[in-house]
Amino acid sequence: MSKLFESININESISLKNRIIMSPMCQYSSEDGFPNDWHFQHYISRAVGNVSAIIQEATAVVAEGRISYGDLGIWNDEHIEAYQKLTSEIKKYNCVPGIQLAHAGRKASTEKPWLGHNQIKSDEKNGWKTVSSSNLPFNESDEVPLELSVSEIDNIVKEWGKATERAIKAGFEILEIHGAHGYLVHQFLSPLINNRTDEYGGSFENRIRFVLEIVEEMKKYITTQSLWIRLSASDWAENGWNLEETIELCKILKQNGVEVIDVSSGGGVSHQKIDVKKNYQVPFANEIKNQVKIITGAVGLIFEPKQAEKILNNSEADLIFLGRELLRDPYFVLRAAKELNADVKWLPQYE
Ligand code: FNR
Repeated sequence: MSKLFESININESISLKNRIIMSPMCQYSSEDGFPNDWHFQHYISRAVGNVSAIIQEATAVVAEGRISYGDLGIWNDEHIEAYQKLTSEIKKYNCVPGIQLAHAGRKASTEKPWLGHNQIKSDEKNGWKTVSSSNLPFNESDEVPLELSVSEIDNIVKEWGKATERAIKAGFEILEIHGAHGYLVHQFLSPLINNRTDEYGGSFENRIRFVLEIVEEMKKYITTQSLWIRLSASDWAENGWNLEETIELCKILKQNGVEVIDVSSGGGVSHQKIDVKKNYQVPFANEIKNQVKIITGAVGLIFEPKQAEKILNNSEADLIFLGRELLRDPYFVLRAAKELNADVKWLPQYE
């Protein structure tokens, strides 16, 4: 029996029919944060393709938390209805709709990747002033971000809660915090980015305070839904955020109700040195799984069914998040089922 096609219970209400999750991937194709026909076809085709859950791309909890002006958002009650159409259609294919809630912090206000991905200055069209844990820019050429005051931090935490409430009203069943890739949560975790001297900076306990406050705020709204987090397990830079700290944080997150760790890495600092190769982030997921005893997901350069199957058979992770391979082939899961002899059927229209 193929492990990739074994179901898994995440909590009492949520069960996944297989282990393949659509990894969050920004489409930079929205206006004012609203999903449109592009998002509908993009997500529904993967649900038809049989992934067990979709984590919708980074969706901003406040407008200035978008990476670019084309990002999705959920900072307004008016967004709710647009997402309801998506989640109800996703559920028709026995796929669990998830959303990644995000704030880009100092990496916000950029151009769309295919138009250059450069930072748009705050006084230019489609740009705005960025914020961060401290006043260090990501690139030397970027504008210096505003260091958030304690009351501004408190406000973002509250907005994260309101975004959670809206996401639940919109029908999302998995709520994933974007804590990775150098965005705002990571900007607090990493000692290379966070140089604050107040209760949000310095010691490990202080640097993790922001994310723990977000978790507490989200839990005020969560009932049957599942709370996940994506973390960068390493900054891949000297004296940066590392696997040891990630494991300590995951132990606390587990006690605080987080049910899945989606294990990524990097993105925090521009001088990172990553040896990018097949499975390169899997050892992080493996270590977190073993030491924290929590459901973990592996992601990054996984693109073949047997490769994914082996990661699960070796107990290195419980879930496989697929990114670019699912962009190339929305029916990857059905192809994998054939290759691994799993009894998964195409929809009758396609049989
Ligand atoms: C991404 N990735 C990403 N990650 C994330 O946590 N939130 C996001 O919104 C995005 N956006 C995004 C857009 C695009 C176009 C790509 C290709 C990637 C990272 C993605 O989820 C995944 O972690 C990486 O792509 C590595 O996995 P693959 O692609 O090697 O399977």
